[in-house]
Amino acid sequence: MVGTFEADDWRQYQMSFSDPHRELEPLDREIAVVEAALSQLKQADILPATVYDRNKMLAHRQAVRELFDIPWTAITPRMERLLYAINAIVQPDNMIAAGVFCGNTFICNAGAAVGPGACYTAENLIGLEIDGQAAERAERNVRRIDRTGVARVIAADAVDFVAQLPERIDLLYLDADGDGSRGKGIYLEILEACYRDLPERSVLLAHNSVNGGSQIGPYLEFVRDPEHCRSSVNVVFDPEGLEVSIK
Ligand SMILES: C[S@@+](CC[C@H](N)C(=O)[O-])C[C@H]1O[C@@H](n2cnc3c(N)ncnc32)[C@H](O)[C@@H]1O
Repeated sequence: MVGTFEADDWRQYQMSFSDPHRELEPLDREIAVVEAALSQLKQADILPATVYDRNKMLAHRQAVRELFDIPWTAITPRMERLLYAINAIVQPDNMIAAGVFCGNTFICNAGAAVGPGACYTAENLIGLEIDGQAAERAERNVRRIDRTGVARVIAADAVDFVAQLPERIDLLYLDADGDGSRGKGIYLEILEACYRDLPERSVLLAHNSVNGGSQIGPYLEFVRDPEHCRSSVNVVFDPEGLEVSIK
């Protein structure tokens, strides 16, 4: 099944990348939009449920606001909530996030299992970042929230890393931006490096499904092909978007 969830105000819902904590709309509206997206993901048989702990989500948000050094981010509050909720509902033992920059996207996913927003126990939550300095900052940020070490950021090329990973991947979050002309075309490189080893019903999240340009096209074609993924929904509620797929 292939579908789109579209909020009618997604074009107007704009953030400032340098001011990620600014409220863009009343909290009730944010919760309702994300709830509607989760419902569609459940209808598409990607999620088993739509329920997550909203108070824990806010505790997670507050900790990131207080403890993270974020030079910029394109993750809107709606996207932050959706990523947290998907992880809280799916509860992946092993999660990989590729291209985490300062770690904000990573902790949106991992925050469902570590820190004050934790609602389950995970095994390995790994953020991958090819830029060594960015990886160090992201790891410093994550250490301020997670004392357990379950969540960590590694300086590595995500294509190589997932190809040799012995653990299974239950949830793969893609946000890397390849060099030169690769751009978001690197998503498909990363997925193809591990696709055969992904278990059935593993969840794939791809940021920039709306603004990823022509380079993300082959990835979207791949996950929307029923030969590869049983279901895929493009969540369009901000100018970036998230393609949510299940193998
Ligand atoms: C655009 S940033 C993601 C920012 C994120 N969307 C946010 O709003 O916070 C993409 C990151 O991917 C990293 N990257 C590029 N190629 C990579 C690769 N092969 N493996 C891991 N990280 C990579 C870049 O260094 C960059 O920090």
